Amino acid sequence: MSWTVRDKTCLITGANTGIGKETALALASRGAKIVMACRDRGRGEAARREISAAGAHRAELLIADLADLEQVRRLADEVLDRYPSLPLVISNAGVVMPQRTTSVDGYEATFAINHLAPFLLINRLRERIEASAPARIVVVASQVEAAGVIAFDDLMTERNYQPLVAYRQSKLANVLFTYELARRLKDTDVTVNCLHPGVIATQLLSDYNGRPRALGMLQRLSHPGPKIGAKTSIRLATDPELSAMSGRYFRPEGEAQSSKASYDEDLAAKLWKKSAELCGLSEAS
Ligand SMILES: NC(=O)c1ccc[n+]([C@@H]2O[C@H](COP(=O)([O-])OP(=O)(O)OC[C@H]3O[C@@H](n4cnc5c(N)ncnc54)[C@H](OP(=O)(O)O)[C@@H]3O)[C@@H](O)[C@H]2O)c1
Repeated sequence: MSWTVRDKTCLITGANTGIGKETALALASRGAKIVMACRDRGRGEAARREISAAGAHRAELLIADLADLEQVRRLADEVLDRYPSLPLVISNAGVVMPQRTTSVDGYEATFAINHLAPFLLINRLRERIEASAPARIVVVASQVEAAGVIAFDDLMTERNYQPLVAYRQSKLANVLFTYELARRLKDTDVTVNCLHPGVIATQLLSDYNGRPRALGMLQRLSHPGPKIGAKTSIRLATDPELSAMSGRYFRPEGEAQSSKASYDEDLAAKLWKKSAELCGLSEAS
């Protein structure tokens, strides 16, 4: 049977604004049952009402701060309790941290939010996703992964913190995770792909460029908005022709090559092992 998102439960992190919200709106309008994972109840609820109005199903909101691995574990438990079927997960939430900040667990926040949180969440949901097959996992990465380095000797960027260095490392980690997970899922009917959404006028782009968020107006004149930025996520979530494709990287123009480092299987295995250790997961998962 051809793939459709109609009546399927779709979990999206960071669905209250930017690319995540536009992705949720589009999938809701195609009949998906949207489950939003957001950190702020007020912002989440405002978006939840809009997303519900865009489709036939009432969107649901779960609250979790991805900078706290205990909240990520609770989020996974809540999803497992409430949704017997989970055929679509979109890891979208992301940050650029202008100053070095640590997560609740004491990890550098960019690495914790952008990489460790989806690593833990998806691993905790993995059996349920497999049981819901055919299923898809979509990881919103970035083209800046190409400039990323996984600095095992300073993974938490304790020396000479630079926001973009930390962000690029986390986005390379997203791509390495996607490819390693695809290898681990190769005998299942679950695909996992990642993407660069384009350079899109959102809060994150202001932070990336080191501009005050209040100047967002200026960036909206020079970059497309999140509706355009959501197109690649929507394609990976919905296109029936991608049903057999896994472990691939997409850009707005279509499938593309990611960086040489991202295809390094030893690097991906080493990162998986380290991430499992940092998240308290058994490595074999
Ligand atoms: N914009 C671009 O040019 C661009 C380019 C390449 C890749 N990307 C990727 O696209 C994805 C979406 O970003 P965007 O551009 O749409 O940015 P955005 O508008 O700033 O949205 C980011 C989302 O992540 C959520 N988030 C941040 N920290 C969180 C935390 N600790 N716990 C839970 N949620 C958290 C935000 O929630 P709040 O609203 O509560 O802050 C928001 O919903 C990111 O993964 C980003 O790396 C963006």
